[in-house]
Amino acid sequence: MQPLKGKKGLITGIANNQSIAFGCAQVCREQGAELAVTYLNEKAKKHVKPLAQGLEINDSLLLPLDVTKEGELETVFEEISNQWGELDFVLHAMASATKEMTNSRLIEVKLDDFNFAMQVSCYSFLAMARLSEPLLKKTQGSLITMTYLGGQRVMENYHFMGPMKSALESCVQYLASELGKDNIRVHAISAGAMQTRAASGINDFAGLLTTTKARAPLQRLCEPKEVGELMAFLSGPNSRGMTGGIHYVDGGYNIMG
Ligand SMILES: NC(=O)c1ccc[n+]([C@@H]2O[C@H](COP(=O)([O-])OP(=O)(O)OC[C@H]3O[C@@H](n4cnc5c(N)ncnc54)[C@H](O)[C@@H]3O)[C@@H](O)[C@H]2O)c1
Repeated sequence: MQPLKGKKGLITGIANNQSIAFGCAQVCREQGAELAVTYLNEKAKKHVKPLAQGLEINDSLLLPLDVTKEGELETVFEEISNQWGELDFVLHAMASATKEMTNSRLIEVKLDDFNFAMQVSCYSFLAMARLSEPLLKKTQGSLITMTYLGGQRVMENYHFMGPMKSALESCVQYLASELGKDNIRVHAISAGAMQTRAASGINDFAGLLTTTKARAPLQRLCEPKEVGELMAFLSGPNSRGMTGGIHYVDGGYNIMG
């Protein structure tokens, strides 16, 4: 079955084959979608290009994107508009913080470090929503972002990213409210802890993986492709009645007291 056949989607946030965004891209492709993919910089391109080729992505739709570089996000959407003229879904799967922010107490965080983390991890989703709105309007498409339970509750060592994820989740709700009149749907997927490059920046992430595995009702970690199954569903016609939600793919970890 290919519920995404004929659909066109932009996937951001692939760094390597462990990225959650790559698991999402794999499932979307398996379900028939045509994809455009971004890479952070020339160094990252070496890792992303072979993955994009495996997903049968045209070279012209493998695009550079560093959201802190002026104009790069605009160029991505210009390119997509020129080539496709419309868009069915957009995946925002990025987060970043400076080393200083990771290593300091939240109370000591410097404004520049906070602003950088907020720009990459949260504001970029608003910017993507703004730029994709005219393209998504044509298809009644979906915008999806990736969050973590640490945006809802205090999770050990997540202090520097928790406020970013809380703000991101709030953006999902307010964007859903603003864009719903055009049938553009907005969702967040709250993934369980997974070993990825971004996660390796969290102190004692190995400990978090162990706790997650031990405490989650399913008693295991989830995989990027399991997130991808939900992401593909939220991108397709079968979720047309849903918007504004935070949906968990975490083996049930979020229900535990
Ligand atoms: N790994 C986990 O345990 C976990 C759990 C829940 C949510 N998440 C979220 O999933 C998303 C994807 O992360 P991941 O775990 O797959 O790690 P990852 O390292 O594979 O992906 C992070 C991506 O962010 C991109 N990025 C960083 N700075 C950027 C910038 N300035 N401009 C554009 N892109 C930039 C990187 O290029 C990379 O592709 C993040 O939002 C993360 O917070 C991760």
